[in-house]
Amino acid sequence: MKWVLFVCFISASLISVNAQDPEIVDEIWPEVKPIGRTARLNCTVANKLTHVVIWTLKKDGQADEVISRDESIYISINPSIGGLKKYEVEKRKTEDRETYMLIIRRLRESDAGRYECSVKIQAVDHTKYPRKLGSLTVQVAPTIRPGDTSTILQVDPGSNATLNCAAAGIPAPNITWVRSDGKNLPSGSAQSRGAELKLVNVQVEHAGVYRCVADNSIKPPAHHLAQVLIFYAPLSRTVQDSVGQAQNRRFSAKLECIVQGYPEPSVKWKRLVNGGLQDVNDNDKFEINKQTTDNQNLYSREQWYTLKVKTVQANDYVDYFCMSENPYGTSQSTIRLFETTECQGPNCPSLAADANTITISSAIVVAITLISIFISMQF
Ligand SMILES: *[C@@H]1O[C@H](CO)[C@@H](O)[C@H](O)[C@H]1NC(C)=O
Ligand SMILES: *[C@@H]1O[C@H](CO)[C@@H](O)[C@H](O)[C@H]1NC(C)=O
Ligand SMILES: *[C@@H]1O[C@H](CO)[C@@H](O)[C@H](O)[C@H]1NC(C)=O
Repeated sequence: MKWVLFVCFISASLISVNAQDPEIVDEIWPEVKPIGRTARLNCTVANKLTHVVIWTLKKDGQADEVISRDESIYISINPSIGGLKKYEVEKRKTEDRETYMLIIRRLRESDAGRYECSVKIQAVDHTKYPRKLGSLTVQVAPTIRPGDTSTILQVDPGSNATLNCAAAGIPAPNITWVRSDGKNLPSGSAQSRGAELKLVNVQVEHAGVYRCVADNSIKPPAHHLAQVLIFYAPLSRTVQDSVGQAQNRRFSAKLECIVQGYPEPSVKWKRLVNGGLQDVNDNDKFEINKQTTDNQNLYSREQWYTLKVKTVQANDYVDYFCMSENPYGTSQSTIRLFETTECQGPNCPSLAADANTITISSAIVVAITLISIFISMQF
């Protein structure tokens, strides 16, 4: 009987002692905030009394660093920018609980990690302090790592190649490849997920600009452009197979040839003279131009070449050749210059217009002009 009473006494006193011990109630919820913003970690303690709540930064492979004791900051480096300290602890009290909120401002990537809340109890070994761990994730917008990312890829037709997009960010960003011009990828789909874009059995039509986008929901997403160049022999076409012009009236004729190929082909003009090919050079007679403006009518990698035959004469009515060449091959297009009785093209003098084509309205204009000349001569 005595023994039972003794046990009861012991347990009662244990309970009463336990009831007085501080305790960290609730979890310390993980905090996730973008770089530059403010993080708040909450440690809620019951039976706080005169015990001390300590926030500690846990460091891997280094000594832990005490940040605060109750509401006072203990860490020596606590810079203030714009009147606000890097670290601060705010206390909130509700009934029998006290929350010690650790505020970390102007988050940097290095602030990410584990933060421990512990309660120091007088005359108790520190290994027996109540303690809980919280975590801080600092989100970082994606960036592209240029060194590991493809910018230009030169490929032979029929071979395989890979485009790489190396992106960093927290959390690790999702990477998507698309074609810049909105066309489908060589695989046939509109986009491809993943850092690597495999190009299998590459064809000339796969040449173009590809874009990778790295997105982890932290604004802004990162973009990168890569150019895929496919080697191929020149291809040429004419705007018109034959061009007409009248002779001996100082009119010129414009012959146009569109060339593609990679590497960019060199283009020469030649013409048929006495059954043989004669070089056509830029001089008083001929004007050779390459149009570099981005023309809507040109497919990618096409170049527009023009040959202007000035002051067309009888011996100019021959075949002209636009000859293109690169290390992968050659191409040739033929344009015939033929004789017409009237001036052709946009640069013809308007008075050369055929009498039959004068419309009623232009006849009226002429009449009014004559009348006004007549009237002005009267004064
Ligand atoms: C801590 O408490 C504050 C104030 O109630 C709250 O704004 C913040 O989100 C809390 N932190 C976490 C990680 O839940
Ligand atoms: C390209 O890859 C495909 C599929 O992986 C393979 O069948 C083919 O042999 C490869 N072609 C070359 C030229 O390596
Ligand atoms: C990546 O994409 C998946 C599926 O759309 C999405 O659930 C996930 O949240 C994305 N990850 C990031 C870091 O945005």
